[in-house]
This record gives sequence, C-alpha cells and structure tokens, in this order.
Amino acid sequence: MASSGVALLCLLGLLVAASPAAVAADKIFYQIAFMWPGAYCAQTNAGCCMPTTDVVPAADFYVAGFTVYNATTNSSMTGCNNTPFNMNQLGDTTKLMQYWNNIRCPSSDGESSWKKAWQTSGVCSNLSESAYFETALALRDKINPLSRLVRNDIKPDFGLYSVKKIKKTFQKGIGAAPLIQCSKGPFDKFQLYQLFVCVAEDTKTFIECPSPKKAYTCSDEILFHPFKKWMLKTASTSFAARAIDQLLEAAMEI
Ligand SMILES: *[C@@H]1O[C@H](CO)[C@@H](O)[C@H](O)[C@H]1NC(C)=O
Ligand SMILES: *[C@@H]1O[C@H](CO)[C@@H](O)[C@H](O)[C@H]1NC(C)=O
Ligand SMILES: *[C@@H]1O[C@H](CO)[C@@H](O)[C@H](O)[C@H]1NC(C)=O
Repeated sequence: MASSGVALLCLLGLLVAASPAAVAADKIFYQIAFMWPGAYCAQTNAGCCMPTTDVVPAADFYVAGFTVYNATTNSSMTGCNNTPFNMNQLGDTTKLMQYWNNIRCPSSDGESSWKKAWQTSGVCSNLSESAYFETALALRDKINPLSRLVRNDIKPDFGLYSVKKIKKTFQKGIGAAPLIQCSKGPFDKFQLYQLFVCVAEDTKTFIECPSPKKAYTCSDEILFHPFKKWMLKTASTSFAARAIDQLLEAAMEI
C-alpha cells in the first residue's frame, strides 16, 4: 500500500515534470514596437511634426508601444488597474523625448502618449511606472534596431531590402525574428514601417511574437525610406524659415 502510494506520487511527479511547455498561468511577456519615422513621415498626408519639446528626436526608430501579453493565451492585456499616471515618476525625460516621442501632427510634447501607454499597458506590466519606461528604453538600447540593420548593410537609403534578410539580422543578433509591418510608401511600394520584438518576463530572453490577428502585408523586398530631421514640420516656423533649415541641413550633409 505504502509503496504503491509512493509509486503513484513518483508517477505524478514525472507527469508534471514532463508536461511539455507548460506555461504558468501568471506568466506574461512584453512586446516592444519600433516605428520608423522615415516611413511615417512619407505615408501620411499630414506629414510629421517636430515635437514641442526642446529635445530634438533621435534619427532612429522610435518606441511606439510597450505592451503586455498573457503568456498562456498570447492575448494582449490592457487596463488591468487604475494606477494613475504621474509625470513626476519619470524623472529626466530626455531619453524618452529622443526615443519615445510623438511626431504626429499637430506638434505635441509626447506626454499624452506616455500617459496612454501607462494606462493601457503599463498597469498590466507588473512594473512600477518608472521601471516600465526604463525597461522599454533599456530594451531599445539593447535591440538598437537602426544600428543593427546598418551594421548589416540594411540602410535607410531608398534601397529595397529583403524581409527575410531583415528578420535574419535580428534572429542572429538577439535570437528572435521580429514581426515586420509595412506601409505604402512612394510609388505605392511597400516600405518598412514598424518592427515588433517580444521578450519574456525576465526582459532578457527574446522570443517569437505571436502573429497579429490580421497578418501584416509586405512584399518580399521592401523600401527602407530615408529619414531626415527636416521632414519634421515645425508649427511656429514660417515656410521660408523651414526652406532655409532644409537648405542648411542639405548643405551640412554634402
Ligand atoms: C510580478 O512580479 C513578481 C516578482 O517581482 C512575481 O513573483 C509575480 O509572479 C509577477 N506577477 C505577474 C502577474 O507576472
Ligand atoms: C492568462 O489567461 C489565463 C486563461 O484565461 C488566466 O487563467 C490567467 O490568469 C491569465 N494570466 C494573467 C497573468 O492574467
Ligand atoms: C503563442 O505564440 C507563439 C509564437 O507564435 C506560439 O509558438 C504559441 O504556440 C502561441 N500559443 C498560443 C496558446 O497560442
């Protein structure tokens, strides 16, 4: 009797240990979205606008979202509680203004995007508000999408690049391929618009993102549109001043 009880326990133990890929129900993972401003500025009729902050956005991919997923179901989690957003928790926002800004027109200061991100996804992240934004920025630094692509000869130079090669570049570097979202650019060509990278709750292990409900459409080769700061329209400068800015910028690049 006693020995069969032990045997049963052992068998149960084996079954539990062997159950494949059992994901604990309380596990979450994160998805970080990177938007390429060169594509954004080219695809919208309104263009793109210089934020009202005195920090100029980086010439780089911008964080466009940092969302939380239930790892058991792959479904996104939103509005988990009512912890209010508090700007004071963010401390120095220079890096946020550079890498997680809002270039939508008309110009704004980015604060409303941070508030929305916190209230929608941040409250589900199991992180404090400051840790939520710091984690997103640290992941951006680590993934560093633009320099990773440029190092692999994939440059925002109006060239056409294979989606496979773009994915491979990340697979090789961080161990997981991103989801790629395209938009329609010049001459109705598909262009690189957003990259989505997923990371486990430890924020160290990159994983494959679940497919979006509606699959993203790209061609096999996609346009990598250039991005120049002069594309960002300033609200206060006149058309003439903007033209001078563009000339200066162009002159500096020669
Ligand atoms: C939140 O984090 C704590 C440890 O910091 C962990 O024990 C817990 O499982 C996490 N909860 C969720 C929902 O991920
Ligand atoms: C994930 O979804 C499962 C099934 O609906 C649920 O039991 C679990 O509590 C959820 N996990 C989190 C962290 O919300
Ligand atoms: C979640 O997404 C991953 C990556 O696409 C996939 O391997 C896994 O089977 C999905 N799990 C569920 C429950 O849909």
